[in-house]
This record gives sequence, C-alpha cells and structure tokens, in this order.
Amino acid sequence: MTLRDLAARHGLSLGAALTERGLAVPRYRELAATEFSSVTPENAMKWDHLERDRHTRTWARADAIARFAAQHGQELRGHPLVWHDQLPHWLTEGHFTPAELATLLRTHVTTLTRRYAGTVTAWDVVNEPIEDDGSPRRTLWHEALGPDYIAHALTWAHATDPAARLYVNEFNALAEGPKAKGLHDLAASLLDRSIPLHGVGFQCHLLLGQEVPGLARTLNRFADLGLEVAVTELSVRMLPPVTPAKLAAQAATYRAVVEECLAVPACTGLTVWGIGDADSWVPQGSRSRYGTPTLYDDAYRPKPAREAMARALGAAVVTACGRQVRALPIRGRADAPAEYPAVSR
Ligand code: XIL
Repeated sequence: MTLRDLAARHGLSLGAALTERGLAVPRYRELAATEFSSVTPENAMKWDHLERDRHTRTWARADAIARFAAQHGQELRGHPLVWHDQLPHWLTEGHFTPAELATLLRTHVTTLTRRYAGTVTAWDVVNEPIEDDGSPRRTLWHEALGPDYIAHALTWAHATDPAARLYVNEFNALAEGPKAKGLHDLAASLLDRSIPLHGVGFQCHLLLGQEVPGLARTLNRFADLGLEVAVTELSVRMLPPVTPAKLAAQAATYRAVVEECLAVPACTGLTVWGIGDADSWVPQGSRSRYGTPTLYDDAYRPKPAREAMARALGAAVVTACGRQVRALPIRGRADAPAEYPAVSR
C-alpha cells in the first residue's frame, strides 16, 4: 500500500514538500502523486520567489505546484505568508517606513490568500516567530509592526479566505523548554483574543541520533488549547559515510515521529521535507556536510525509512487477532468554534 493510503486510514494527511524542478523528473512526479495526500511548495510561495522584482509577481512555479496537487486530489499547504527569511532584496534593503512595511505585508498576505482561496487548505501564516529563549523573534516585521504583526497577519488571512486553516509554524520546539513555552504562550494569547489561529506546525529537521521523546506530550499541550497540530517539515540528516546501521537508525527516527503524531488525535498531518536525497535542501548552505535525509535515495529507491514509516502507519490499525480495522478519521481540533468573531483592525 502507498503511504498515502496507509495514512488515510488514520485520518492523517501525509505530505511532501515539492519543487517545480523536481516535478520535471518522472519518478519524482510519480512518487509525489502516489505516496502523498498533501503538498507544500518548498520554495515557490516564498516572497523572494514570487516577487523578486517589485511589482512583478511570478506565479508560474507556485501555480504549477497547486495544479499538481489539484490533479492528484491532494491538500495544498501554503508556506509561508510571513517570514523573516527568503525575502526579496528590494524589500530588505528598501528603507521603508513602518507604515509602508505594514502596507506591503498586508498586500502580500491578502494577495496570496485571495489567489489561492479554495485551493490552499492550510496556510503557514507566520513562520518561525519565536527566539530560542522564548521571546518574540526580532524580525523586520516585529520591528515595524510590533508583536501584533502576527495577530494582524492571521486576521488579514482569515478575512480574505475564511475557509483556510491558519497556522503558526516553528522549529526547535519539539520538546519542553523556553522555545516551546514561548510558542505555547503566543498561541494561548492569540486564542484568548479571538484571533483566528487554527493550528501550530512543528518543523522537524533532525540530526541522526536526535530523539523525539515527549513530542506527543508537546503536541498534546497545544491540542489542549483547542488547536490542531501538524509535523510540517520532517527530515533526518546524517554525516557520511552512509552505512546500513545509520539507515536503520534513521528509519527508527522516522518511525518514532509517525508514532508520536498518531498518538495525538489533534495531529492532522505529517509532511516530509523533500522526496529523495538527490533533491533535498539539506546539502545546501550551512548543512553541506550532511545528507541523505529523506525517504528515497538518490535514484528514488525506497530507503529503510520509507518502510519504517509504512510499518508505523500500518501497525496501528491491525488488531491483536490480525484483522484490519479502519481507524475513524477523528483528527482535528477538539473544540473548534463554528465561527470566529469578526475582528476589525
Ligand atoms: C528551505 C528550502 O528547503 C530550501 O530549498 C531553501 O533554500 C531554504 O528554505 N524551515 C522552513 C522552510 O520553514 O521553508 C525551509 O525550506 C527549511 C527550514
């Protein structure tokens, strides 16, 4: 069975981050279509990709990925609307006033949410808003708009596309600690103020040997707020040389993450960051010593990690006497309000 079908029996959507370059490779396309029920554009919806030159938006790459998802009956996770990274130079070096930056951000958020309304099912509205010590990350958005830039962005997105599920997405927040606490405090305070936040996404870029004990506990703490949660970016990188023992350890980590997510009813999705090792982001930039982080090898052959994920997704629906039972798709927010009150700002 495909990973996608196995995950569906748990009501879990299983995603992959895709690039338009990858989609030109037949085997990549095939795996992206058959193994996954959700798609995240790895870069195509980032501001520097969409509007490298001011006033000229290039939609072709993002649209191609959106079209691919629609053709294959997949959910589309929009990523990201507000981030401090991968911004166009004209923006970061433009010396704009705070009021101008607020207008630029609002236009960006509403333009994207309007274009993909009805197509994008969930948006990472704000990416990486918390520092390691739990305080708000000092980004140009924070400097210009103050800490309320997050509330503003969620409110703008919800006003344009009320059907989309709106997420804050963060890294290094898998275990208890100042960062996870800062993220939890942020989510709680947004909900207290009736700001439309539906979920929290957890990036999960792991190093071989890094364990995820307590991930389910962390996810549950956010679920207790009434939020859905998702593992939005899973990868497990390693140093060369690649050995069977390392691949087995990697497989165990993939399996553990799946099990932690499955243990939490509010965990609605799990997305792997890349299809095969050949096209992964890991060997780029500061992680260049590392590699081999995905489910498929350089030739798109399944690695032990792929089989471990399949087993983790399969095992939980087999009863003691060996009969398969269909898990009810009960994943989602525990107490989703029917409608958020309109917030005018
Ligand atoms: C990465 C992409 O995978 C790379 O291709 C790009 O060069 C840099 O960004 N957290 C995120 C993702 O939220 O958007 C990042 O994606 C990986 C870390």
